[in-house]
Amino acid sequence: MYMSTEADLREVYLDNAATTYPKPEAVYEALDRFAREVGGNPGRSGHARSLEAGREVLRAREAVARLLGVGDPSRILFTKNATEALNIAIQGALRTGGHAVITSLEHNSVWRPLEAMARAGTIAYSMVECGSDGSLDPSKVEAAMSGETRLIACAHASNVTGSLLPVEEVAEIARRHRVPLLVDAAQTAGRCELRPEAWGIQYLAFSGHKELFGPQGTGVLYIAPGWEVEPLCYGGTGSLSESSSQPEFLPDRYESGTLNAFGLAGLRAGVEFVLATGVDRIREHEEALTLRLLEGLRRIGGVRIYGPQEWERRVGIVSFNLAGFTSSEVASRLDEAYGIRVRSGLHCSPLAHRTIGTLETGVVRAGLSFMNTPEDVDRLLEALERMSLDCGVGS
Ligand SMILES: Cc1ncc(COP(=O)(O)O)c(C=O)c1O
Repeated sequence: MYMSTEADLREVYLDNAATTYPKPEAVYEALDRFAREVGGNPGRSGHARSLEAGREVLRAREAVARLLGVGDPSRILFTKNATEALNIAIQGALRTGGHAVITSLEHNSVWRPLEAMARAGTIAYSMVECGSDGSLDPSKVEAAMSGETRLIACAHASNVTGSLLPVEEVAEIARRHRVPLLVDAAQTAGRCELRPEAWGIQYLAFSGHKELFGPQGTGVLYIAPGWEVEPLCYGGTGSLSESSSQPEFLPDRYESGTLNAFGLAGLRAGVEFVLATGVDRIREHEEALTLRLLEGLRRIGGVRIYGPQEWERRVGIVSFNLAGFTSSEVASRLDEAYGIRVRSGLHCSPLAHRTIGTLETGVVRAGLSFMNTPEDVDRLLEALERMSLDCGVGS
C-alpha cells in the first residue's frame, strides 16, 4: 500500500459525486477560449461573436446527443443543473394533478418538488421502498401505480449507496401502462451507458458538472417526442420575439434567458473527453478503484460499508462509517489532517439514508472519478487505518 508521510499533504479529491475536480485539461481550455475569444450572447444578435457563441452551444448539444444516442439534438435542453431539469419534468408532467411513483432512494431534487405539490393538495405520490443494500424490486413500482399515475421517477444510481437501479425494467413497466418515466441520471451520465430512446425513457435529467466534467451551472434534460410539458420559466429566447407566447419548438421552449454558453463550451469539451475515452473504459477504471477501496475498507477495524458489494450493481460511490467517529468527524479529520476531501452527512438524500438506516448518523461518502488513481484510494485507506488504530477500534 502507498504510505504517505505526515508532511505529504498532496490533495486527494474524492467528492466527485458532488462535483468533479479536477476537470480534463481540454475543459479548462474551452472555458478560457470562450471567455477570451468568443464572449457573445448565443442566439441573440447577428454579429460574429453572437454567432460563434451560438455555434458553441450547438456543438455542446450535438455532443450530448451523441453521448445519449439521441438522433435530434434539439431534444437536448440545457438547464443550470440536474435539479432544474428534474423540476421541469416533475412540475410539467403533474401540472394538472395526478399521482406519481418514486423510489425511496431519490434525491431531494425529486422528493421536495413532489412534497411541495402534495402539500398544496394538487397531487399525490407513492414511494416504493428499496432494500437496505440500495436495491429496487421493479415489480413494486408496478404495484404502487394507480389509474391516476402520471409519472414514475427513478434514480439511475443512488448518490448515497452507489447502487444502480433497474431503469430499463422500470421503463418496460412504464411503457405497458403508458406512463412517462423520468430517470435521474445525475450519478451515471458519463460513467454508464444511457440510451433514453432505445430504453423508452421520456425524461432524462442529469448534471453537466459531475462525471461529464463540465463546469458548475450546467445541466441537461432530454424530452422524448410527444412528451413535451409546459416550461417552468418563460421569457426571451431570441426567436419569435414579436409573439407574446413562448415558442413551441425545442430547445427554445425551455431555454428562456441568456444561456450559460461559457459553461456549455466547457461541458462540450467534457462530453467530448468522455466520448473519446469511452464510457466502457471510464467504467473499467472506476471498477478497479472501487474494488480496491471496498477491499481495503473491509480490512480496517470498525468500518461499516453500505451499498452493494458487487461491481455489476454499483458505480464508484462508496459510503461507510468508522466506529468511534461521527461521519462529520471523519470527513473533517480527513480534510484537515490528510488533505483528503470527502463528504459526510445526508447528501441531500434523507430518503436514501432512511432506507439504509443512517438517517441519524449520516455516512462518509467517497465519490470516485476517472481522474482518480489507485494512490488516491490508498491514501484514503491509510488515513482511515490510522484513525481506526488511534481510536483503538482497529485490529
Ligand atoms: C442523484 C442526484 N440527483 C440530483 C442531484 C442534483 O444535481 P445538481 O446539483 O446538479 O442539481 C444530485 C446531486 O448530487 C444527485 O446525486
